[in-house]
Amino acid sequence: MAIASLSEIPAGAGELSVWPASTTRLPHGDMAVGGVSLAEIADRFDTPAYVLDEGEVRERCRTYRAALPEADVLYAAKAFLCRAMVRWVEEEGLGLDVCSAGELELAVTAGFPPERIVLHGNAKAPRDIGAALRLGVGRIVVDGPSEIARIAAAVGPQGRQRVMVRVVPGVSAGGHEKIRTGTEGQKFGLSPADGSAQDAVARILGQPRLELTGLHCHIGSQITEVEPYLVALRTMVGLMALVRDAHGVVLPELDMGGGHGIAYRPGESALDLTALARGLRTELGESCAAAGLPVPRLVIEPGRAVAGPAGVALYRVLAVKRTGRKVFVAVDGGMSDNPRPVLYGVRYAPRLVGRHSAAAARTATVVGRHCEAGDVLAADVELPGDVHPGDLLAVPVAGAYQLSMASGYNMVGRPPVIAVHEGTSRLLVRRETLEDLRSRDVAG
Ligand code: LLP
Repeated sequence: MAIASLSEIPAGAGELSVWPASTTRLPHGDMAVGGVSLAEIADRFDTPAYVLDEGEVRERCRTYRAALPEADVLYAAKAFLCRAMVRWVEEEGLGLDVCSAGELELAVTAGFPPERIVLHGNAKAPRDIGAALRLGVGRIVVDGPSEIARIAAAVGPQGRQRVMVRVVPGVSAGGHEKIRTGTEGQKFGLSPADGSAQDAVARILGQPRLELTGLHCHIGSQITEVEPYLVALRTMVGLMALVRDAHGVVLPELDMGGGHGIAYRPGESALDLTALARGLRTELGESCAAAGLPVPRLVIEPGRAVAGPAGVALYRVLAVKRTGRKVFVAVDGGMSDNPRPVLYGVRYAPRLVGRHSAAAARTATVVGRHCEAGDVLAADVELPGDVHPGDLLAVPVAGAYQLSMASGYNMVGRPPVIAVHEGTSRLLVRRETLEDLRSRDVAG
């Protein structure tokens, strides 16, 4: 559709600061993302629906590459993956971090070069390891001692697989306890403090079918400060020096994981990528010089910061109800397409789109349609006082860990994903239908 004739006001700052950069206001309270009206998307594809701005994804990939041209940037597929996403990330020169045979097969069958893929997982199933070896992934990140012999055995007599060791550097950070992963006492990684990281290194070095390329850490997710990364980096370089001293092996790679925080609401802070890049580079140079090590190739694995701000969730209001002192605005999605508020207490900033309202704002709680009281999408947000059934609500920063964590609860069906770019919209992932649900139910 053409919107050029309409008076577009770029979003950019203020209340639209967390929206994709392409966002513009249209007349009658509508908004466009990627040059496409959100009201039109809702009409055409129905709701709930997820809109993904291709230009925003690509631009975010480019920003990473420009900030750290000397590093390998792997997109963490768990944030959100579909075949189009695989292609965009590939075309922008990133690698991929996957954590299951499913993510891996989807990426490779969509044409992603397997050697640019890293497989993670604290509990890799035989199927995961089998797919990784069959498809030829670039690296497998070892997360426990029992994996080492399993991977080596699966490689076969002729083969050789590159691996890394996931280390907990003793520094943990992140937006919620459930997503802090850098210390002992949680399920990921091997500790240098109790010697299990060193043991894993020694065992891998003793396996001729495995080639240890480096160490990996991922200290947590939704981290907004640079400092925890630098503290972790120092420990990681210290461990690389220990490996050299113990085995005479200089590891060529250091993967610092992802976890780069983003703002979900205007005014919230995000990780400063330029500051992170500068900090990592300086710290890596200094720590390696102090340890007498050559600077390893740096690897990072952002997921949320690539996909999150590129997505917008669109819901239709189904009911408005006042209960006691609270106003509930119930929409046609909820915790089955976005479990994040329930899981981590994350706050979102929904807004009315598709019509102009002159009504004064009032505090309302946006809830989903699922059968439990905890199904809240956005507690105590300001919405126009006349919001009513049929209205459209849009929730920005919906591109990461929403659809990828969507469930089949209440058999509502998972929403579609619609790509928008330069004025056109395109269905990437279709809506899950009743027929999809029924077809898996194979016995009467
Ligand atoms: N690398 C590894 C090894 C990871 O485990 C993760 C995320 C990433 C990279 C990417 O982290 P990111 O840059 O996206 O923060 N479901 C939670 C987030 C879980 C993150 C799990 N691991 C949420 O919705 O906040």
